[in-house]
Amino acid sequence: MKIVMLGDLHGNLPATLAMERMLEQIQPDEVWFLGDAVGKGPSNAETCDWVRSHCTLCVGGNWDYGIGGKEFPEDGYFWNQLGEERMNWLNSLPREQEVLLSGIRFRLFHGRPVTPLLQVQDDKEKLGQAFHTEKGNFGGVIFADSHRPFFRSLHDGYIVNTGSVGNSMGVNRAHALLVEGEKDSARPAPLLFTILAVPYDNQAAADIALMDDALPHRDAYVNEVLTGRYSR
Ligand SMILES: [Fe+2]
Repeated sequence: MKIVMLGDLHGNLPATLAMERMLEQIQPDEVWFLGDAVGKGPSNAETCDWVRSHCTLCVGGNWDYGIGGKEFPEDGYFWNQLGEERMNWLNSLPREQEVLLSGIRFRLFHGRPVTPLLQVQDDKEKLGQAFHTEKGNFGGVIFADSHRPFFRSLHDGYIVNTGSVGNSMGVNRAHALLVEGEKDSARPAPLLFTILAVPYDNQAAADIALMDDALPHRDAYVNEVLTGRYSR
């Protein structure tokens, strides 16, 4: 069973389409969405619709709820692009999911607002808290939100970050996570984790933003797409 998990598309259509071409090569059985289809970039209806047509399991991210729930008045640009029906869908997404893969119980969420922002350099005590909830203990956590892919093995279990499709920090390729294993199986069996690091036309993504004078924080987004440096 091949499952690609991805998130943080953030309205970046060239990055999303580059990832789509990668998926056509990999031919995964399922694609799962780990939050933040929208916000930051200029092509939000397109990346929202891409998630809805490609992903069979979804959790929402902080930007999905912030825009879908009209939390911030300065997000009117995104409301206009998306319309009520898409925003209602974003706001209705579950905050977390779980799955049993090759004998390990994995907790899946975006990051914020379920947890504080978790990053690769955080100490193991902070990261370890994500494994233990009122629903019991998990042996793995898979999430997005920090916009950098990583894999760590803690005493609590594996903690794995998908990276970001459309707003990568560090290396500014489109990233996602391929997991190969036995879905819905309690039997211990091998698992494969592969980081997908897909080049795309970053300048084309910046140019789409530069043509849109109404995009909030446009220069920050353009700089992030071109350099991989957080700019807001
Ligand atoms: Fe994000």
